[in-house]
Amino acid sequence: MNIVTCEATANIAVVKYWGKRDDKLILPTNSSLSFTMDEQLRTRTSVAFDSSFKEDEFWLNGKKMDLTDKETAERLQQIDVIRKKAGITTKAKIVSLNCFPTAAGFASSAAGLAALACAASKAAGLNLSPSELSILARLGSGSACRSVDGGFVEWKMGSKTDGSDSIAVQIAPASHWPELRNVIAVVDAGKKKVSSRAGMKQTIATSVLYPARLQYVPKLIEEMKKAVLAKDFAKFGELTMRESSNMHAVMLDTWPSITYLNDYSKEIMYAVQEFNASKGSIKAAYTFDAGPNAHVYTTADQVEEVVKLLSRIEGVTKTMVCKVGEGPKYLNQGHLIDSNGNAKEARFDEIKKEIIVK
Ligand code: PMV
Repeated sequence: MNIVTCEATANIAVVKYWGKRDDKLILPTNSSLSFTMDEQLRTRTSVAFDSSFKEDEFWLNGKKMDLTDKETAERLQQIDVIRKKAGITTKAKIVSLNCFPTAAGFASSAAGLAALACAASKAAGLNLSPSELSILARLGSGSACRSVDGGFVEWKMGSKTDGSDSIAVQIAPASHWPELRNVIAVVDAGKKKVSSRAGMKQTIATSVLYPARLQYVPKLIEEMKKAVLAKDFAKFGELTMRESSNMHAVMLDTWPSITYLNDYSKEIMYAVQEFNASKGSIKAAYTFDAGPNAHVYTTADQVEEVVKLLSRIEGVTKTMVCKVGEGPKYLNQGHLIDSNGNAKEARFDEIKKEIIVK
């Protein structure tokens, strides 16, 4: 049995994706930019296509998922696209394990859907480029398309109606800015009240500020690329914080209003602003996705102080320091499917940070 296993990691955007122009193909209303994270935020996925399988099966973190559930089926739509591309009709077994500490509240789908695109396409006999893989990953979750490559990645929004030019492209490899760090401050590990899918749809339909956001993003993309390529942290930091606030402003301007940030998130914002004021220039920069947890970008020489600063804030339950990651990796061992095609028992060991496969 041909079992392919891949690990991919989450990405954290500095120019955010918030809005679709096509809900089915997941085509965005603006381009976005992110850093792919290191393997602390990884998902391992094994895939096999085999004539002995009677039906598609998807196991996530040891649990068999219901493929008649609409959201799960939508997230896995790339499997049919892969089968069609490869000219096969065999059923698939997909076994996936989020290798994040369970209490961290970062069960981001990006790592999972990027790992799925890589493992499933290879298991089906396809040999695709990162941009081709990004089209597949995008079908499950928009932001996932940026995790098919490492380093600094742009998701180009494209203009074609079939989505063939809405692809992720690496702007700089991980080695470009090895000193860059993302200090994650967890303030809430719970599930969000409004899914990003529902939230962005509501924003497009109701926010009066949203058209202004769409006008400003193309210029921001160019400025952000310039700042990152020049490793100009002060500029990068200012653009990152202002962009995070811009996205959260249109969320708040949505009707009914959406608030993902909480009082602890605001404490973090003020603490970072004070930290920068005390340093006389921008040395740390926060960004928030559709949730209250903070991602504070900084550099290696500041990271100890930033961790201390964030750990002191009431409500911060955990901090984690990530580097920029290299992108997906194929593994020759540690498959999550055994040679008979069964899902193996596997779990993530939070203490040793290893995956235990039985
Ligand atoms: O891919 P989704 O549907 O989970 O969208 C999430 C988008 C943000 O995380 C809020 C921003 C981004 O670009 O990652």
